[in-house]
Amino acid sequence: MPHDPHSRAAFATRQVHAGSAPDPISGSRAQPIHATSSYVFESAEHAAAVFAGDEPGNQYGRMHNPTTDAFAARVAALEGGVAAVALASGQAASAATLLALARPGARVVCSTNVFGGTATLFRRLLVPWGVELVQAPPEAEALGDALDERTVACWVESVANPSGAVPDLPRLAERCRDAGVPLVVDNTWGCAGYLCRPLEHGATAVVHSATKWIGGHGTFVGGVVVDGGDFDWSAGRVPALSEPDARGRTPQDRHGSAALAVRVHELGLFTLGATLSPFAAFLGLQGLETLDLRVQRSCDTALELAHWLAEAPAVKRVVYPGLLEHPSHEVARRVMRNGFGAVLAFELADEASARACLDALALVSHLANIGDAKSVAIHPWTTTHQGMNESERRAAGVTPELVRLSLGLEDPRDLRADLAQALHVAGVCS
Ligand SMILES: Cc1ncc(COP(=O)(O)O)c(C=O)c1O
Repeated sequence: MPHDPHSRAAFATRQVHAGSAPDPISGSRAQPIHATSSYVFESAEHAAAVFAGDEPGNQYGRMHNPTTDAFAARVAALEGGVAAVALASGQAASAATLLALARPGARVVCSTNVFGGTATLFRRLLVPWGVELVQAPPEAEALGDALDERTVACWVESVANPSGAVPDLPRLAERCRDAGVPLVVDNTWGCAGYLCRPLEHGATAVVHSATKWIGGHGTFVGGVVVDGGDFDWSAGRVPALSEPDARGRTPQDRHGSAALAVRVHELGLFTLGATLSPFAAFLGLQGLETLDLRVQRSCDTALELAHWLAEAPAVKRVVYPGLLEHPSHEVARRVMRNGFGAVLAFELADEASARACLDALALVSHLANIGDAKSVAIHPWTTTHQGMNESERRAAGVTPELVRLSLGLEDPRDLRADLAQALHVAGVCS
């Protein structure tokens, strides 16, 4: 990764400048969208050198695009990583990372509190392929106790969807380091480092659904993997990252601290073709430029509404790590910064009330996303987490009576009014 002159700048400066500079040919201040599938080589010798990796350069649009690379570099700068790869979706980012680390016969330890799509990835792809999945609650000691010498990854979410569970990342990273296991954190809810920076807590790599707060406007689907760059692959825990090639060089010899990012790039883009479009990457860059402002506003609204919902008679329970009574509150205070996230969940009397509440919402959109500038809500039990069986859903903190609410940028008074009328309808229905 080329030296980034903004790497020492403050977060707000990096979110606007890192990874991109005025275009040297046109003078364009905004990052141009490179709508191209391919790149002209200077000579046959140049083409061969670029393909051999002996010279930097763009090979082909499935693997390389300057707009997409600028987007990935900016996320790497915000998370404090050495390199990043942008992919077609958060799901593709998770899949490419797990495929980069695991092979049949390997073992992955995963928190029970994960997004339904991640659970599906294990069920449909990794487990049938021969990877052993071991699940444990999101506490550092429970996950740490599940690690063994065959474990190639420990997978958690920085703030779990939708339980709000926050693992003690410094302690978990210590357990993983002692066991020689890479720690991968899905930091989607950590908002590209504004709320949580897992690499600073000792994680090996970070995965994002850029569809959420990074984009921030519900306008594209994308994902990013960030390599923290300080895991020692030479110990051989992940054979694909320590085996020498025909010339006797290991991935670490060839790619230094970015060995994992390069493998994710090879698998996710070159091999699987889960390439992010440059148009989407441009939207990602636009979203990042206002990240801290948007996330701060949404977090403040979430905290205010969490307190207000806790007093509402129709609400049985509010799930938000910013509330004192949330089991992760104390850990969240240490592991997070600037706020406790833009998503809360609340339980009503029963499933019928939860569904009636969603049907009655007018300002809040009923849809399957989070991190939009517009507030959105859903019933995870019958949608995002439907692919899990009942006990898996309950272990992930999903119940039939739960509504998930992702706060956008509207005036909190208008959101309160919409929720109040929807809760009234739900109360009448229960
Ligand atoms: C925590 C988390 N990780 C990963 C994903 C998958 O991302 P995408 O929908 O961009 O594929 C999601 C999507 O909701 C998510 O919430």
